[in-house]
Amino acid sequence: MHSPLDLLELYVFKGNLAYDGEGISQIEHAWQCGQLALQAGATPELQLASWLHDVGHLMTDLHGTPTLRGIDDQHENVGAQTLLALWGPAVAEPVRLHVHAKRYLVATHPGYVQTLSPDSVRSLALQGGPMGEQECAEFRANAFALAAQQLRSWDDNGKRVGWFAPDVQQAHSELQALMQRVSARLGSGLALL
Ligand SMILES: [Fe+2]
Ligand SMILES: [Fe+2]
Repeated sequence: MHSPLDLLELYVFKGNLAYDGEGISQIEHAWQCGQLALQAGATPELQLASWLHDVGHLMTDLHGTPTLRGIDDQHENVGAQTLLALWGPAVAEPVRLHVHAKRYLVATHPGYVQTLSPDSVRSLALQGGPMGEQECAEFRANAFALAAQQLRSWDDNGKRVGWFAPDVQQAHSELQALMQRVSARLGSGLALL
């Protein structure tokens, strides 16, 4: 069982890992997605989901770019499982669905696939490829389908080289403050450093 502090420490100790060879680090990608969610007026829960949507990559301990070795690390499920226990479905479900959202958008929006990064295209095949009609209908019926698509758009746009907090400690502080805010809203009273 991970605590919020455990997740924060993952970013402190592993946040400098490359994000799938995109020219940015995991903490830069997380911060950028959080910023895009904030700018879009997302709820604190969806902002936190945006920050933490790829935390599963840091939890699985697979080095380098797993998709190049034909491995799907299932990071969306790994991350969502922990987030569900900590902050419930408003944080966990958009995370669990952010890969589904890509498969949905590829199936329903011609041209979307051309906007994806090389690693996102490579992982698409490993993750099941574009959704079929039945899968699309099931996805649309999910209460968090819209939130997942919003998160997906911030994910796709949160890969800019050179856009980051003034220093990495500030990024960690922002993440910690958001964790505390969401915990307080949920009344979970989780203690953080
Ligand atoms: Fe992801
Ligand atoms: Fe991502």
